[in-house]
Amino acid sequence: MRILGTGSALPARRVTNEELTAFLDTSDEWIRTRTGIAERRVLNEESVLSLAREASLRALENAGLNADDIDMIIVSTAKGETVTPATANLLQGEIGAHCPAFDLNAACSGFLYALDLAQPYIDSGKAQRILITCAEAISRLCDWTDRSTCVLFGDGAGAAIVGAGEGLLATRLTSVPNLGALNAYHDPGNNPFQEHKHPASYLHMAGQEVFKFAVSTSSADLRAVAEAAGVGLAEIDFFVLHQANMRILEAVRTRLGQPKEKFPSNIARTGNTSSASVPILLDELNRSGALTPGMLIAMSAFGAGLTSGAALLRWA
Ligand code: UT7
Repeated sequence: MRILGTGSALPARRVTNEELTAFLDTSDEWIRTRTGIAERRVLNEESVLSLAREASLRALENAGLNADDIDMIIVSTAKGETVTPATANLLQGEIGAHCPAFDLNAACSGFLYALDLAQPYIDSGKAQRILITCAEAISRLCDWTDRSTCVLFGDGAGAAIVGAGEGLLATRLTSVPNLGALNAYHDPGNNPFQEHKHPASYLHMAGQEVFKFAVSTSSADLRAVAEAAGVGLAEIDFFVLHQANMRILEAVRTRLGQPKEKFPSNIARTGNTSSASVPILLDELNRSGALTPGMLIAMSAFGAGLTSGAALLRWA
């Protein structure tokens, strides 16, 4: 399986760190030094669906395909446009595709979960081309009075179309149950027979716990996919990592003993866009011409669950 095309979309509204200081006890200096984030994009006129649509259409154009060429749509989102139907079904209508479509939620690791899920369909020929679109609006999940979370996230969508070819060399997914580290509860509804309901809640995160998990799991996952593919870390051209925190990227880089230029980053402009983060960065690299055929690209993401996912692919 290989990647045939990529696309991405960000909301128009930029929110700088300085703007956040108007209503939060925080500072540009704290956010920059602790996370590497200078600004993020936040939904205003857009929706999760409109971002998904834009990123998907760009990926189709990049791949030179039409919506009718797509055999399956997988949307990764932590909070889709609607509870039901899935955002993937709505996206299908927006782009005019006629194929099975469904959402998956593996939090920030969603892109890697979707890639892994797509591979047997492509390898077996059951599907020729699969659209994977990661569309996230964590601004809808955040408590905008909680400085420990809302400063970290941004909204956006990233998409990739996969099809047959020599490309994906290895994948690895992990999951360990951990409710306390990162969670947000749904509205429990108004069932009069249920006495004890957990109320809906905003995103809660135990930052340092997730930080430690991220560094250890991302380093281990990247080593594992390289080993599974029989590739030395030094041979890998780019490490495209989930943009959660610049210090996490730096800690993983140091553990792997790799140079800075192999770790591209857009976190300063986007913040943490959850599962959209890896495909947005991949699309930016693709469009900038940084990716040339034959390059080895390792990807890694981690998030609520706790989940993690990694992949090694040869750019085709
Ligand atoms: O995509 C999902 C994966 N998520 C992640 O990977 C996030 C992983 N975690 C992190 O990136 C970091 O843990 C954070 C950026 C969330 C926090 O950085 P930290 O260095 O771990 O800070 P901390 O939580 O230990 O907090 C240090 C101090 C605290 O004050 P006291 O108790 O020392 O007085 C916090 O209250 O910083 C305070 N603080 C802030 N101060 C100014 C927390 N948030 C802010 C803020 N502005 N926005």
